[in-house]
Amino acid sequence: MENKFKFKRFRRLRYNPIVRDIVCETVLSKNDLIYPLFVVPGEKIKNPVKSMPGVFQHSIDTLVKECKEVQDLGIPAIILFGIPEHKDEQGSEAYDPNGIVQKSIRAIKKEVNDLVIITDVCLCEYTSHGHCGLLDGEEILNDETLTLLAKEAVSHAEAGADMVAPSDMMDGRVFVIRKALDYKGFTKIPIMSYAAKYSSGYYGPFRDAAESTPAFGDRKSHQMDIGNINEALREVEADIEEGADIVMVKPAGPYLDVIRKVKEKFGMPTAAYQVSGEYSMIKAAGQNDWIDEERVMIESLTSIKRAGADMILTYFAKDAAKWIDKNRK
Ligand code: PBG
Ligand code: ZN
Repeated sequence: MENKFKFKRFRRLRYNPIVRDIVCETVLSKNDLIYPLFVVPGEKIKNPVKSMPGVFQHSIDTLVKECKEVQDLGIPAIILFGIPEHKDEQGSEAYDPNGIVQKSIRAIKKEVNDLVIITDVCLCEYTSHGHCGLLDGEEILNDETLTLLAKEAVSHAEAGADMVAPSDMMDGRVFVIRKALDYKGFTKIPIMSYAAKYSSGYYGPFRDAAESTPAFGDRKSHQMDIGNINEALREVEADIEEGADIVMVKPAGPYLDVIRKVKEKFGMPTAAYQVSGEYSMIKAAGQNDWIDEERVMIESLTSIKRAGADMILTYFAKDAAKWIDKNRK
């Protein structure tokens, strides 16, 4: 009797490395990368962040140098996080024209051409209590916080930011930020909204880097519950209606299903944030020789792109750009 099972020879396209490259469906490129940077007051500072090997807090002078290097590597954009001189209940330095981020933007723009500066818009780095908004007792106020976020976004644009990225997860922030930017004449400044941002344990190392650990409680009253995906779609839809130009899913690697659905449903420019914890885990395992760091880095980034991300915010941006230089003809 004849065997009714046939089989296909998938390996035909896998023997020759050149053929493999030809049929490769997802290729990471430098244009996919956005590099996060942390800026602190002072001079000649380059503080290693202990929980994030290879990541530093920079003073403005060393930040500018770093930006030149980033630009030379062919990375198109950075996202800036500021750690202020003084923190207070209202996070005043967040919207101070002479705040740390505003000064940094002006310094970078003076020295580095053609590097897109995105700014993170939130209050948690600037408030004494480390929360993303104004407090009434232990409650994080929504509408009162919106006014301050709009002021922060406008002050970043006035300093020369190319794009603003609200990460606070207050309801309605994209709407008020868009309105405020337009009113001040910044109709051409896009908003990249942290649209589906989960209340994640993977942000731990970032809070060391940004010195933004909440003094009490957590962020569960504004960031999303880890089990929800329908809600993520509603969050993204709302941000698009309010005027978001780019929508972000965060974290990235553990939420590839969310990235995929957001991309398929809305077809918007979609960003994914490979967050601090994702980075630190790969770094730590690599440093222990438990995994091949370079391979896993490229695998993690390629997977995020394969899921549907058009751009990736990642602490690996420089390493990935170097890898691309080395490995691509
Ligand atoms: C501020 C903000 C956070 C991150 C980006 N913007 C931290 C948080 O929400 O606690 C996390 C980035 C990372 O972990 O790399 N709201
Ligand atoms: Zn915040």
